[in-house]
Amino acid sequence: MADKLIIFDTTLRDGEQSPGASMTKDEKLRIARQLERLKVDVIEAGFAASSNGDFEAVQSIANVIKDSTVCSLSRANDRDIARAAEALKGANSARIHTFIATSPLHMEKKLRMTPEQVLEQATQAVRFARNLVGDIEFSPEDGYRSDPDFLCRVLEAVIREGATTINVPDTVGYAIPELYGNFIKSLRERIPNSDKAIWSVHCHNDLGMAVANSLAGVKIGGARQIECTINGLGERAGNCSLEEVVMAVKTRRDYFGLDVGIDTQHIVAASRMVSQTTGFVVQPNKAVVGANAFAHASGIHQDGVLKARDTYEIMRAEDVGWTANKIVLGKLSGRNAFKQRLQELGVALESEGEINAAFAKFKELADRKSEIFDEDILALVSDESVSSEKERYGFVSLSQHSETGERPQARIVFTVAGKEVQGTSEGNGPVDASLKAIEAHVQSGAEMVLYSVNAISGSTESQGEVTVRLQSAGRVVNGVGADPDIVVASAKAYLSALNKLHSTAERVAAQG
Ligand code: KIV
Ligand code: ZN
Repeated sequence: MADKLIIFDTTLRDGEQSPGASMTKDEKLRIARQLERLKVDVIEAGFAASSNGDFEAVQSIANVIKDSTVCSLSRANDRDIARAAEALKGANSARIHTFIATSPLHMEKKLRMTPEQVLEQATQAVRFARNLVGDIEFSPEDGYRSDPDFLCRVLEAVIREGATTINVPDTVGYAIPELYGNFIKSLRERIPNSDKAIWSVHCHNDLGMAVANSLAGVKIGGARQIECTINGLGERAGNCSLEEVVMAVKTRRDYFGLDVGIDTQHIVAASRMVSQTTGFVVQPNKAVVGANAFAHASGIHQDGVLKARDTYEIMRAEDVGWTANKIVLGKLSGRNAFKQRLQELGVALESEGEINAAFAKFKELADRKSEIFDEDILALVSDESVSSEKERYGFVSLSQHSETGERPQARIVFTVAGKEVQGTSEGNGPVDASLKAIEAHVQSGAEMVLYSVNAISGSTESQGEVTVRLQSAGRVVNGVGADPDIVVASAKAYLSALNKLHSTAERVAAQG
């Protein structure tokens, strides 16, 4: 029987560390459910000690997720570890992931600790954690740039204390596949008790090699866990992308000879959910989940695919959850058809109230747009105003006037803590006027650092999906809004970003 490759998803922890990708507790919960549907083995739900918000997110994910192990990150100190254990109490299967930096640069400049102190702290942390939870992962941060002799001492010691998984991060994305693979191999060969732990790879994508490095860690190094994120989300250039690494191991099973438990048909829905929640748009030519990943533009390719699809296709689009861009529902569709389509798309709304709210929005959209595609439905359920009673700001209505040669004007009605207010403004264009009308009332003073519009289903009849990134007091958040009217979509995106600014608490940085 082939070995199993464990898929450890860190979208909700390392992915969320990407500037602007911070998520609310409900958003994290929704993504965690999708990850469970994907049959991810381990979900790193957050960093419980970093903020009360993250503690609650880890706790609620631990209470709800039944089929995947739920993990919390924790620095190598008793307080963080106890907090992680507390948040994970309700989990069916819990893991604590504790880490401390081991590279000379990080120990000297960041931690201001000697190697002996780091060794002592790592050992103590694992000993303490092991008394609280049976499943302990240890990461030597910046492991790949650490001195191999010192790393061997640290890893041997933490395995002796009971660490069950050893994860070797390439924290800054500096590795090269062959070198990283051999690095893991040599650690495993040199450490006498290395067979007592599962070895894991964690690669960042600064040189665009996170997936290649992770696969080399598996093939050459013998690692049996890969840490990755949906869409490769993560700090700077991101992490190893789950969809790419999983499809590589599945498609080239002849080479890797490993089993992965992922139900790949939920990949595209997961990708869209993460993209719509964080506002990080997926590039069209992104492998597996990009809009063009299975599109054949050249005549020769199209001809070949029509004659025999494997002339140019190494994977089947439907195996990763792409459905034909067909009209799925319309104005006359009922609640049951809508609910069933949501289930087929892998979207589980938690309560009847949420289904009703989403259905009301669907009807509203169907009145304005005769053909509703899967992408429209996914955008609609990701729209925060589905659960708007919990949000501080909610969109109500907008009117705007623009005419050649005149300065556009907008009037917007929205809710602030449930109370309707309105704002009016002029602007350079209708979008500018609408956002200024919101700002005239809210006066957040936030700086807009990104504004982007994307047509969800590719034609002028489609919904526009707008991402707005705001920066305020050192925090960066993304808001996303969708509507057939891009001015309305922009106003929704702006309000969604304001909601995030309002709710995101200060955090302790994982690698700070
Ligand atoms: O990249 C890294 O080193 C990490 C650790 C905290 C595991 O994310
Ligand atoms: Zn990382």
